Amino acid sequence: MPILEVQHINKSFGQTQVLNDISFSLERGEAMAIIGSSGSGKTTLLRCLNFLETPNSGKIIVNEETLFDGSRPTQPSDAEIRKKRLHFGMVFQSFHLFPQYTALENVMLASLLLAKERPDYKQNKRVIHEEIEHHAIALLEQMSLNGRMTHYPHQLSGGQQQRVAIARALALKPDILCFDEPTSALDPELTDEVLRVIRGLADKHTTMIIVTHEMAFARDVADHVVFMDDGVVVEEGRPQDVFENTQNERTKAFLHRFSQNS
Ligand SMILES: Nc1ncnc2c1ncn2[C@@H]1O[C@H](COP(=O)(O)OP(=O)(O)O)[C@@H](O)[C@H]1O
Ligand SMILES: [Mg+2]
Repeated sequence: MPILEVQHINKSFGQTQVLNDISFSLERGEAMAIIGSSGSGKTTLLRCLNFLETPNSGKIIVNEETLFDGSRPTQPSDAEIRKKRLHFGMVFQSFHLFPQYTALENVMLASLLLAKERPDYKQNKRVIHEEIEHHAIALLEQMSLNGRMTHYPHQLSGGQQQRVAIARALALKPDILCFDEPTSALDPELTDEVLRVIRGLADKHTTMIIVTHEMAFARDVADHVVFMDDGVVVEEGRPQDVFENTQNERTKAFLHRFSQNS
């Protein structure tokens, strides 16, 4: 069974249809790269998965649980949406760390908020806090940020901030980790630093969706590549097929344009 099934997702903003019948599935432990020119709907697709946008139709199924079904429109409560969001960890282009909190506090924050909803929170506050702190420290260590835990975002490089953001996304143990152009705001050296971390997660079979313009990385690390253009999936498959044996004319044109620009 796939861990994620996206079925026939449509999304319009006013008269503009931004996602047009998007379908794909993702297996557990698989890394999927989504590639496509600017404006093709990649961010909107990730935002739909994370319930930051509501599709007009289609279905989103995670672990056989239907999280969204456009044929049965309901108005989920804020608590229900928060619960659905827990399936997805999000890493954005521009980190979005809280400047007033340290690296460690940024990673712990969501887990602490969630713990406060536990019925045993008051009784076991100290133990729960310690558990959350230990887990956050382990994640920051995994991101090679051992000496940076008490630093504030402004004291960290972009690459370090993005690694904090990845640790934060992992803190709630999501089923699927989603990256939206995680290195587009970074210079080449820091890009490599962050790509190494993502590659390490892929090696450990973390289930991931990575929207990226890093073609060499996608080809090397992804198990599955989805190519989007103008709100449509125009091609998908194994990287060697999509990159080396491109069938679709729009994919060919994009890859050609890209290889000339870079
Ligand atoms: N909230 C919104 N309201 C209106 N149009 C939007 C909104 N968000 C995205 N769009 C439009 O949807 C299209 C796809 O955008 P986006 O998903 O950001 O593409 P990508 O991430 O591939 O660059 C663009 O034309 C963009 O202007
Ligand atoms: Mg985008």
